[in-house]
Amino acid sequence: MHFSGTIVLAITAFAGCTSAVPSPRGSLPAAPPRYSTAGFSQDQLAVLKVAETFLQGIGTRNPTQMLDQTLPSGGAALLRNGAEILTTLTGLVNRIPFDSPGEMTEIISGQPIIMVDHDIAMAWTPYEFLINSTVDHVGTDIWSFVKQDGQWLVSGVADNARDPGQHSYEAYETLVL
Ligand SMILES: *[C@@H]1O[C@H](CO)[C@@H](O)[C@H](O)[C@H]1NC(C)=O
Repeated sequence: MHFSGTIVLAITAFAGCTSAVPSPRGSLPAAPPRYSTAGFSQDQLAVLKVAETFLQGIGTRNPTQMLDQTLPSGGAALLRNGAEILTTLTGLVNRIPFDSPGEMTEIISGQPIIMVDHDIAMAWTPYEFLINSTVDHVGTDIWSFVKQDGQWLVSGVADNARDPGQHSYEAYETLVL
């Protein structure tokens, strides 16, 4: 095992992720690290980076950056108040109100689970969606990915959304595990 190499990569990726996402720390409970990438393979790190880059595009209002991470005609299945919204990844990006005055941020708020088989992958990521640094809704994003020409791309997303209620990192850990 190239153990030390893995650790260096993991730390690099984690630093990259935290600096890439605007910090909403003002509204969050005394912040433990949101997640660890210790032990992640290079493919798991690459998949996570695609997901983080996609979400970063919400905060920076950059739909092109988001779509660049995807197969745009891939599917999205969103569950909202018990009703499903079936659309494409383009449709998903188009739902985001990029022209709203509020500051929007979506973060991976707990430990991601990422599984890879050669050229396909999946990720399970608990998320928080913040408006003006206040948690507006939370849920889980389920992602699928394909690897094309060495590049991971989002091939599909399913998610749910609910009121933040009494959200806590501990609750997410329970949900994820
Ligand atoms: C967020 O802040 C903007 C700019 O101050 C404001 O126009 C908007 O109404 C706020 N949105 C929410 C949901 O608080």
